[in-house]
Amino acid sequence: MTRLEGRTAFITGGASGLGRAQAIRFAQEGAQVVVADLNEEGAKSVVAEIEAGGGEAIAVSLNVTDAESVKTAVERAIERFGKIDVLSNTAGIFDGAAQLGDAALESFRKVFQVNVDGMFSVSKAVLPHMLELGKGSIINFSSNAGLRGGAGGIAYTTSKHAVIGFTRQMAAAYGNQGIRVNAIAPGMIQTPMAGDFVHTPEGKALFEAQPAGRLGQPEDIANAALFLASDESDFIHAVTLSVDGGMVDTF
Ligand SMILES: NC(=O)c1ccc[n+]([C@@H]2O[C@H](COP(=O)([O-])OP(=O)(O)OC[C@H]3O[C@@H](n4cnc5c(N)ncnc54)[C@H](O)[C@@H]3O)[C@@H](O)[C@H]2O)c1
Repeated sequence: MTRLEGRTAFITGGASGLGRAQAIRFAQEGAQVVVADLNEEGAKSVVAEIEAGGGEAIAVSLNVTDAESVKTAVERAIERFGKIDVLSNTAGIFDGAAQLGDAALESFRKVFQVNVDGMFSVSKAVLPHMLELGKGSIINFSSNAGLRGGAGGIAYTTSKHAVIGFTRQMAAAYGNQGIRVNAIAPGMIQTPMAGDFVHTPEGKALFEAQPAGRLGQPEDIANAALFLASDESDFIHAVTLSVDGGMVDTF
């Protein structure tokens, strides 16, 4: 028996990096996967990869900042698979590391619109379906920058702290209705978002100094998300799981 047999997983940001890795990993474990992303071509190519491996998935176009797009994407998932058991709110943006003195309110809001409002809108659209099922697992993406100062700019850091508050509050409100809500706080992981920084001497020094002594890979995050998605984590609610090679606790 595979770990997500018979489950449907809706993954925002599924076209790239950590979302893509979860989509592929979850499908390997028997899940039907909805790869939801602004980048429709990227989502389609992840679906093709899943199908080539014998899995089942659909690509849906999604802009988490657009309520109509969120509604349509969730409807398409329900039409096709009838339910959503797992929601991974992975879509996010990083605006560089602008500090307050250099950051414009407009760019601060833009980061919040995707990283926080987007998580709100998608969770709100999926929630009634999970309540109807009486069961569900939601995984939100925070960051090392959600657990301490100094790991990002003002907008990104504030938004990733907000993800943790949202996770705890939603867990408190809906846990007794069968819905588990947890967060993952990745460290430095090799994805398009992390970009070339991880190959600079400064980036290398950071990950070489952490207990794991290596750069994180998207599969490291996908494995942790798989655990939170599956029944193996049935007694785990409201946590923020650092998957960062030990970086945040030894910095
Ligand atoms: N890579 C890291 O080192 C790292 C570290 C900590 C946290 N994170 C978090 O993990 C998550 C995934 O990051 P990643 O590294 O895979 O990034 P990525 O840039 O590789 O992928 C992000 C995906 O989100 C999609 N997206 C962006 N805006 C969207 C929108 N408005 N609507 C729908 N989709 C949208 C993009 O098209 C892209 O496919 C993010 O929330 C990020 O903040 C990443």
